Amino acid sequence: MSLRVRPLHPLFAAEVEGIDLRRVDDGPTLAQLRDAMDAYAVCVVREQQFEDDEQMAFARRFDGELNTKTGRGAVEGDRRRLAAREMTDISNLDEYGKLLAGTDRRRVQALANRLWHTDASFASPPGRYSMLSARGALPPSGGETEYADMRAAYDALPEELKAEIADLRAHHSIVYSRMTIGFDEFTPEQRARLPGAEQPLVRTNPRTGRKALYVASHASHIVGWPVPEGRILLKELVALATLPQFVYRHAWRPRDFVIWDNLATMHRGLAFDERYPRDLRRVTTVDREPSPLLQPR
Ligand code: OGA
Ligand code: MN
Repeated sequence: MSLRVRPLHPLFAAEVEGIDLRRVDDGPTLAQLRDAMDAYAVCVVREQQFEDDEQMAFARRFDGELNTKTGRGAVEGDRRRLAAREMTDISNLDEYGKLLAGTDRRRVQALANRLWHTDASFASPPGRYSMLSARGALPPSGGETEYADMRAAYDALPEELKAEIADLRAHHSIVYSRMTIGFDEFTPEQRARLPGAEQPLVRTNPRTGRKALYVASHASHIVGWPVPEGRILLKELVALATLPQFVYRHAWRPRDFVIWDNLATMHRGLAFDERYPRDLRRVTTVDREPSPLLQPR
């Protein structure tokens, strides 16, 4: 299958045309797609008619093992709408397909997706490629997703700052990111199951050698630093990385499929009219890149 790649933004994000991902299972086409992801970090593919099992199968062909520790299911666990644990529910619907009540814990978890983040950075291993499919209903307007190019943001940092952060690690926690929006109703069992994870502040794509900032709303402090100093540095880095020139906004259409590299981007959902259903479903692969800072020295 031959695919066409059309850039959507001066720095990153492209639309991949002429492809039905359900049927892509040959090495050369998958390699072309991986090259497009290395170059653009976000790829939009329109008109993909996935069922859940087809979406999971494609993600496994593309990158292997799927992450189950991501999204609202990572916290809430039970009362699932989608059968497979590998399918992350990014909708505003409950297990009966009805709109979630405003006070439902799962809606509050979903609300936290409006903070800039990278998927499953609070887990070890974190998420690598996320693949989000617009399956059914979408609100009449809004409900977009924004992406920030963390490679371009890293490149734009002053050299002294690059040197300062080169060997730093941040602690990422989903309990922390929810706390920042005032949600702290975690049970002791949930807290014990969600201890968070340490991640390097800078990640390198092993195939291109390109570096990217690795921060998120989940990042609570710099390991080994006093909390206030670390938190201020993290907030500065997120602010720099999400300046308008680094951001691409995706407006969803039915059957859109978007793949992003969580090591090279951050993303956030935008507000929409919550009287309407919005049915998006995600799978995320496991980050298998060894991070040198986490190896014993
Ligand atoms: C996600 C996510 C934002 C949105 O799928 O991981 O953060 O716009 N989505 O729904
Ligand atoms: Mn997300």
